[in-house]
Amino acid sequence: MTTPPRHSDRVLSYRDLVRIRTQMDLPGRTSEFTGRIRGEREGAVDGLHFREVLTAAEREVVVRDHRGEARPMLMFGSNNYLGLATHPRVIAAVQEAVGEFGVGAGGPPILNGHGPLHRELEDRLAEHEGQEAALVFSSGYSANVGMMSALPGPRDLVLYDDEIHASMLDGLKMGRIEARPFPHNDHRALDALLETHGAAYQDVFVAVEGVYSMSGTVARLDRIGEVTRRHGATLIVDEAHGTGVTGPNGAGTVAMFDAADAVDIVMGTFSKAFGVSGGFVAAGGDVVDYLRYFARSYVFSTAPSTAICAAVLAGLDVLADEPEIHGRLMENTGYLAQALQERGFADASGVTAVFSLPVPAGTDVRAAAHDFHQRGLFLNHIEAPAVPTSQQRFRVSLTSDHTREDLDELLEGIDAVWAAHVLPVGGTAIPEPRLKR
Ligand SMILES: Cc1ncc(COP(=O)(O)O)c(C=O)c1O
Repeated sequence: MTTPPRHSDRVLSYRDLVRIRTQMDLPGRTSEFTGRIRGEREGAVDGLHFREVLTAAEREVVVRDHRGEARPMLMFGSNNYLGLATHPRVIAAVQEAVGEFGVGAGGPPILNGHGPLHRELEDRLAEHEGQEAALVFSSGYSANVGMMSALPGPRDLVLYDDEIHASMLDGLKMGRIEARPFPHNDHRALDALLETHGAAYQDVFVAVEGVYSMSGTVARLDRIGEVTRRHGATLIVDEAHGTGVTGPNGAGTVAMFDAADAVDIVMGTFSKAFGVSGGFVAAGGDVVDYLRYFARSYVFSTAPSTAICAAVLAGLDVLADEPEIHGRLMENTGYLAQALQERGFADASGVTAVFSLPVPAGTDVRAAAHDFHQRGLFLNHIEAPAVPTSQQRFRVSLTSDHTREDLDELLEGIDAVWAAHVLPVGGTAIPEPRLKR
């Protein structure tokens, strides 16, 4: 019997990617890279990326895979944490807004794209985040890029947690902002950096995420807030995965730590708990007005459609009026966290809807991902070369709509996949490598 090639033998290595990116001319780059990716999508190397989800973003979906087969699957890879993407009140609000305003804003906010629903949404978001004002962007990505490239100046420094999202890093690069990482959630290292470097700069910004998207860990905003305040720096919190999930009734991670006094700027998205797309920055009125003119992704981009604004406004109403939805999400996250902890996943906190399942280096993560797929379980896998092989993982996202049976089916799947692909025979301990980028 011939052994099938291992995942690591089939995929491009990080070194391959760097070689393709830096040493080849355009035809070479595109043909080598695209050839590999196309082969993957057509099933030549059993890729699971770009699976086509044929139905609404609910707990159960119908998925067409790379072989063209459609099958029902339990969805554990969606950011639709509260099920708002298909909530009847949200859908009704969108239909009404489309009836009145049509489907598109027709221009950037600074010219003709800013309407009454944009204004109302900005006011409601500011109130929700306990800030003076807010502005909405067409995506969370553009909110971070716009803010991080425009707010810090040439004599400023940004200190950022080394797990922050690519959109913040891209903004820093775009603005050519001087920036340094600090180790994940390490307020002592942050303190030391502020002590050593703070005085040399005009303004210092600290950038963290309320809930880290890859690991599901929560920023220790109590400690980070104290350190940042003591040094007179400005604290920015990306609440993409916190809004609607963490804190009392999903008020967010800032509320969870009662840290509003220590946080200057909150960024958030509509693409996670609100179930649509778009993003916002909430801050003091002067900062928000400054961004309206200097955040290039705001100024030079068409405003989100009024349908998006209507969906988020309705979502805010649902959050306030139907706390049982958040309650169901927390019951689910608590149940899964306990079951995962019993299996050795020590980092499963249950406070967030994101669970990271690290696999030891040497695991054929793609074979394991395939096994989940065959079992009808849709999980996201984070594989090399996106991360080093020692940091490969599965990522599970829960929603309020998952049932106890769904979670038990997931746990059975994890046990089976781990036994077949991950744990050494007879092994019990699961190493917990930390994600680095
Ligand atoms: C932490 C974080 N910030 C920002 C973004 C970008 O948001 P969006 O997908 O709405 O553009 C994401 C989403 O991928 C995220 O996880």
